[in-house]
Amino acid sequence: MTFFDEQVAARYDEACGELNEPAVLEPTVACLADLAGSGRALEFAIGTGRVALPLAAAGVDVHGLEISQPMVDQLRTKPGGDHIPVTIGDMATTRVEGEFALVYLVYNTIENLLTQEEQVRCFQNAAAHLTPDGCFLIEVAVPNLRRLPPGETHVPFDLSPDHLGIDEFDVVNQRLVSHHYWVGAGEARAFHSEHRYAWPAEYDLMARLAGMELAARWSDWHRDPFTAESGSHISVWRPSG
Ligand SMILES: C[S@@+](CC[C@H](N)C(=O)[O-])C[C@H]1O[C@@H](n2cnc3c(N)ncnc32)[C@H](O)[C@@H]1O
Repeated sequence: MTFFDEQVAARYDEACGELNEPAVLEPTVACLADLAGSGRALEFAIGTGRVALPLAAAGVDVHGLEISQPMVDQLRTKPGGDHIPVTIGDMATTRVEGEFALVYLVYNTIENLLTQEEQVRCFQNAAAHLTPDGCFLIEVAVPNLRRLPPGETHVPFDLSPDHLGIDEFDVVNQRLVSHHYWVGAGEARAFHSEHRYAWPAEYDLMARLAGMELAARWSDWHRDPFTAESGSHISVWRPSG
């Protein structure tokens, strides 16, 4: 299942806004390049190459796995986009040829797998791609449930003049739908993305099921410590000895 169709793909980079800024991408690339070392990197859900392109420009041999052809079509239109090998497939199941020093999955995309079973298989698939000293990295939000009052199901996360963002929680099933509404320039658009959220400890168990153990957990790409107030985490697992 993918909701990243042609229309969404065409607007994806614009919608990413500040995530395309050097202030975000430079530390992201520096961290990923450091973890890849002289080895190859594989981005699960490479999308339009927001991260993969600058990482490749930094000298890393980057490959991609992506379920949406329209997202890859956007990647191909960009400078350097033709040089990144991309396999079309599902990050929970599809095997890309070869081994990688780094497999990474950023921007909350583990949550696009909507069951625990699929997320576990994604960790197992990542582990199957790693060199013995390689690592799997994810960047994902900490569930925002401290902002959900008892009895409520909706939490606004952006109320700006041209964009409304509201998360609708299903706490029994650890699911949420992010509702986005854009207004302006004579048009209104909506986009609804489904997620399965999990706490860091559950990801650690998924890693353990996949034969990996936690090597690092940071609150951001500058490797600041993960704390009780961190809104997201960057976690790195390595194959268990
Ligand atoms: C939020 S975008 C992230 C794209 C890119 N990694 C970035 O950081 O800009 C999520 C991407 O995940 C892809 N995706 C969703 N489910 C997938 C799956 N099961 N296997 C591979 N890609 C998937 C979508 O098609 C989309 O390109």
